[in-house]
Amino acid sequence: MIFFDVCVIGGGPGGYLAAERAAQAGKSACVVEKRALGGVCLNEGCIPTKTLLNSAKMYDYATGGARYGLSVEGASLDHSKVIDRKNMVVKQLVAGVAAKLKQHEVRVFSAEGRIVGKNAEGLIEIEAGDERVTCRDLIIATGSEAAVPPIPGAREGIERGFVVTNREILDIRTVPGSLCVIGGGVIGLEMASYFRTLGAQVTVLEMLPAIAGATDAEIAGILQKNYQKKGVAFKLGCKVTSIGDNCVIYEENGESKSAQCELVLMAVGRRPNTRDIGLEALGIETERGAVVVDERQRTSCGHVYAVGDVTAKLMLAHVAYRQAEVAVNVICGADDVMDYSAVPAVIYTSPEVACCGETLASAQSKGIDAREVSVSMRYSGRYLAEVAGGDGLVKLVFDGRRLIGAHMIGSYVSESIWGVAVMIGQKMSVEQMKKVIFPHPTVCEVIREGLFE
Ligand code: NAI
Repeated sequence: MIFFDVCVIGGGPGGYLAAERAAQAGKSACVVEKRALGGVCLNEGCIPTKTLLNSAKMYDYATGGARYGLSVEGASLDHSKVIDRKNMVVKQLVAGVAAKLKQHEVRVFSAEGRIVGKNAEGLIEIEAGDERVTCRDLIIATGSEAAVPPIPGAREGIERGFVVTNREILDIRTVPGSLCVIGGGVIGLEMASYFRTLGAQVTVLEMLPAIAGATDAEIAGILQKNYQKKGVAFKLGCKVTSIGDNCVIYEENGESKSAQCELVLMAVGRRPNTRDIGLEALGIETERGAVVVDERQRTSCGHVYAVGDVTAKLMLAHVAYRQAEVAVNVICGADDVMDYSAVPAVIYTSPEVACCGETLASAQSKGIDAREVSVSMRYSGRYLAEVAGGDGLVKLVFDGRRLIGAHMIGSYVSESIWGVAVMIGQKMSVEQMKKVIFPHPTVCEVIREGLFE
């Protein structure tokens, strides 16, 4: 039996970073991972999708470059080569994570981890495949998997490859002639964009009246218009009720309708991975399938912490990173808490969408007397120079003299939202923010413009 100060179950962003930070703090640490290091983010989420979307963007430049004076004869996008490159990028990053853990002397068990219980000395016992380890502190970072709702035909569809989730769609080599995407959330939108660029007829079926979940309604509307221009069809307010042989059946205004397609992407949210990991051995509390944690990532059981998607707080890799650091700091005796008030979120569509903090609607629903300022990206010289006919927009939400939210659609917003997150997170006043010098010419200057409105 090997002893570690900290044992982490799950080697995704939350898990590997927790182990790394624990080792940096002088703890002996191990990670138990049954699939590949890097988890969903590196292997079948954030990184592979960005690789695909970048190829699509380059193709769009090549085919839509006429108004920029660019003409490319015979441009084509080879999906299979894009997948090869994606696999290479993933391999490189996974190897990078392994190297980093090795450098920090973190032991990696390539096995399924399960909590066994506490031994006589009060140490937590973990099964890692055929091996057993004990630890003083345990961090559960088992992540999430695609939710497959009990829609008749869904399971059968998955078995015969007609229905895929975010995992399988990243490995298909043949572009379907038509794709039905169930769910107009982040995954659905990113994949709809890619496959439309490849020439598939894409229909997004969304149960709610708008796409992109909690995104500001005006920005979601602009995104939808951009998608429609590309030829993506939307069926909003349509709940999928069953899946047939080569079609999806949905309900629209009380009427049952059907959409024919060659492939279905199920993207209706994710489910925390809490099954078969032995939570019951330590009586760890769960709620709707997620491990319950406090703001210090502590579970209901002493010395057991949980981070990342398994906590179902905000299923974002960067939230998992920060939760991991909070857990390790608390284990090391420092006081640290999670703050969700300034978490940036990005949808890597074209144009990109980035948000942080409250929308006007969410602020008002909390009784905040909020004010909103909208600035078109056309105020930015760089935006005008680079985006012909663009409809980029920045919306800032203020509570008195404080910024509490920012919502943007347009170029580079994925890279500029962190600046706004700092302003919101640090609770800077408008006067302080006005003194920040933004580089010129940039698109993010529009944020500065909004501070003076
Ligand atoms: P989501 O929660 O973003 O969207 C799912 C959508 O499916 C919702 O709009 C919901 O109304 C709809 N839906 C549910 N049941 C339906 C039905 N029967 N018929 C039609 N529509 C239905 O979930 P998604 O896109 O699967 O993403 C999962 C998680 O992964 C999210 O938490 C997201 O934040 C994260 N993610 C983040 C990314 C990023 O940061 N860029 C990229 C991809 C995923």
